[in-house]
Amino acid sequence: MSNNKNVGGFRVSGSTIADEIKSRCNIVDIVGRYVELKRSGSSYKGLCPFHSEKTPSFNVSESRQFFYCFGCGASGDVISFLMKIENIDFHAAVSKLAEEYGIDMDRFGYRNEGKKNEIYEMNREAAVFFYRNLTEKPNPGYEYMKKRGLNPKTIARFGIGFAEDSWHALQNHLLEKKYSEEMMMQAGLLSASNGKRYDKFRNRVMFPIFNTRGKVIGFGGRTLGDSGPKYLNSPESSVFSKKNNLYGLNLTRNEINSSNCAILVEGYMDLVSLYRNGVRNVAASLGTALTEQQCALLKRYTQNVVLSYDADAAGQKAALRGIELLRNAGISARVLHISDGKDPDEFITKNGKEAFLKLVDQALPYADYRISVARGKYDIGTPSGGIGFLREIRGILADLSPVEADVYIKKIAAETHISESAIRREVNETAESARTGRTAAGGRQQPAQTLYPAGTGGRVPDIRRVEGDEMIQMHFIKLAAVNPDYLEPMKDYEFVFEDPAYARIYNMIKDVYLEDSEVDINKVSDNLLPEDDVLFRKALERVVFPENSDQVFRECVEKIRYEKLQKRQNEILEALTLLTEEESDRNRADALTKELIELQRTMQNIKLG
Ligand code: UTP
Ligand code: MN
Repeated sequence: MSNNKNVGGFRVSGSTIADEIKSRCNIVDIVGRYVELKRSGSSYKGLCPFHSEKTPSFNVSESRQFFYCFGCGASGDVISFLMKIENIDFHAAVSKLAEEYGIDMDRFGYRNEGKKNEIYEMNREAAVFFYRNLTEKPNPGYEYMKKRGLNPKTIARFGIGFAEDSWHALQNHLLEKKYSEEMMMQAGLLSASNGKRYDKFRNRVMFPIFNTRGKVIGFGGRTLGDSGPKYLNSPESSVFSKKNNLYGLNLTRNEINSSNCAILVEGYMDLVSLYRNGVRNVAASLGTALTEQQCALLKRYTQNVVLSYDADAAGQKAALRGIELLRNAGISARVLHISDGKDPDEFITKNGKEAFLKLVDQALPYADYRISVARGKYDIGTPSGGIGFLREIRGILADLSPVEADVYIKKIAAETHISESAIRREVNETAESARTGRTAAGGRQQPAQTLYPAGTGGRVPDIRRVEGDEMIQMHFIKLAAVNPDYLEPMKDYEFVFEDPAYARIYNMIKDVYLEDSEVDINKVSDNLLPEDDVLFRKALERVVFPENSDQVFRECVEKIRYEKLQKRQNEILEALTLLTEEESDRNRADALTKELIELQRTMQNIKLG
C-alpha cells in the first residue's frame, strides 16, 4: 500500500491556527453579528454586507463553514469574512477570534505551524503503519476484527490498524522515517520509564482519530489481551484535544447534516458497527463524558441528537447528563433505549439496521426520558413511592413551558393515578420557589401534596357531597339530636367542633340528654342563643340521612381520621423538605419517612373502606 492511499478519509494538507479557529467557532454566529440571517434549507440567507442589495443573495453554510454571495461573488471562511468586514489583515482577524474562543496561539502553534504539521504527518505515518500491520500479514488484530464482523472495506474506511505486541516496532519505524523521539513523545505515541522509551500501544487494535479536517490527531487502542485498560487513548497534546472532537465525525458529518440528525454513541466499536450496518449519521464521544464543545461541534451539522448510550446504569447516568448538556446547547435531544444487548454495537449486530432505526424512532424526548428514569426509581403504586416520584419530576415539569407541562401532567396523572391537582401543586410550588429563591417549604401556602384527595376515585368518604369541616359538625349535631346513642362514641371526636357555635349546640344537646335521658329538639332550640338556633335548624334541615345513620356516623369518623392523617402527612412533608442531606438530619428524615409510609398505608386503607 502506498502512503498516498486515502485511509480513513485522510487528506494531506497543511494545518494552521486557522483550522483550529474554524473547528471551534461557528461562522453563523460571527456573520450573524453583522448580518441578519434567516435559516433557509441547510444554510442561512441575508442581505450581503459587501454590496448593496434589496433581496438576499448572501448565503452562509453552517456545515461547510463558508459564506458566498451570488450577487457580488464575495466568499470565504470565517476569517476572510472578518478580514473583509472589519477591513483588517489575516493576523488581526486570527488574533481576534483566537482571543474570543480562548485559543492559546502559542500552544496551538501559531508560531509553530510547521511543527504541528509534522506531528499530523507523523501520526498519519503511524496510522498507515498500524493499518499495514493489520491488513498485510496474518495477525491477531485482523482475526479479532473479523470476529467482530468487520470486513476489509470497513477496516479501510476507518483506517483501523494493529499495534504488534512489541516494545519498539512503531518507534523504530518512525525513526527510519526521520521523526524524532521527542516528537513521538509529544504526540503520545511513546511512553517512557527509567529513561527508556517504548511504544505506548502494544497488542492493540488501533482506531485512528481524525478531526473534521481529516488530520490524524490521536488513537484509541483496544487491547487484545488482559493487560492495561480495555481502551487506551492518546494523551491530550497540542494536536489532540478529546473535549473538542468526536470520533467518526470526519466520515459522518455530511450524513448528519443531510439527515438533520446525529446519533451519539459512547464507543468506537458502536460507531463502526452502526456505520457498517448502514446507519451513518453517527458520532462517538471519545470515551469521555459529552462536553459543551462537542455539543457546539455537533450543532454545526444538526440541531437534533439522539443519545444512544449503553443500556447499563452508567450509560443511563451519562445520558441524563448528556441530555441536559445538549438541551443547554439548544439542541433537541432524545434518548434511545437499547432493548437487547448492552450497547448499540451488540444490538445492531444481532437485530440489524431496521430494528435499530425503530429504536431511534421510539427514542424519548427530554422530559419523557427524565420522567421515565424517575419512574423507574420508585414504586409509584405505593404512596411513599408516589411522593418520591413527584418530588423528582416536579423540577423537570417546572422547567417546561406551561403548555408542555400541562400535557405531561395529564399524562402522568393518567398513568400513575396521582391526581392532576397534586402534581400541579408540586410544580407550581417549585416554580414559585424558583422565582422567589425561597425553599419550597418556606414559600408554601398550602401544605404539600395530597396524594388521595377527596373526590378522586376510590371511596374517600365524601359526606353527602358537602365540603368542609362544617359539614362534619352539622352531621354530628344532627346525629346526636335525632339519636343520642351517638353521643357516647362521639366523645372521642369532640375536637371536630372547632366552630364555637356548633360546640355550644353540641353541649346543649348533651345537657338536655343528661337532664332528660332523651333529646327533645324543641327544648334544645329554646335554650340556644337565637343565632345558634338558626344554625341548629339548618343542620337538622340540611342533613338528610340515607337509609342508615350508622353508616353516616362511620363515614364521618373515617373522614375525620383521614383528615387528621392528612394534616400530619402535610406536616411531615413540610418537615422533610426542610431537612438537608446531612448526616445530622438523616435520622430524623428516616423516622419521618417511616411514619409517613405507615400513615399513608392507613390512609389508603381508609380510602379503600
Ligand atoms: P465500553 O467499555 O462500553 O466498551 O467503553 P465498548 O465500546 O463496548 O467496547 P467493546 O465493544 O468491548 O470493544 C465505551 C467507550 O469508552 C471508552 C472508549 O472510547 C470506549 O469505546 N473507554 C472504555 C476508554 O477510553 N477506556 C477504557 O478502558 C474503556
Ligand atoms: Mn461494545
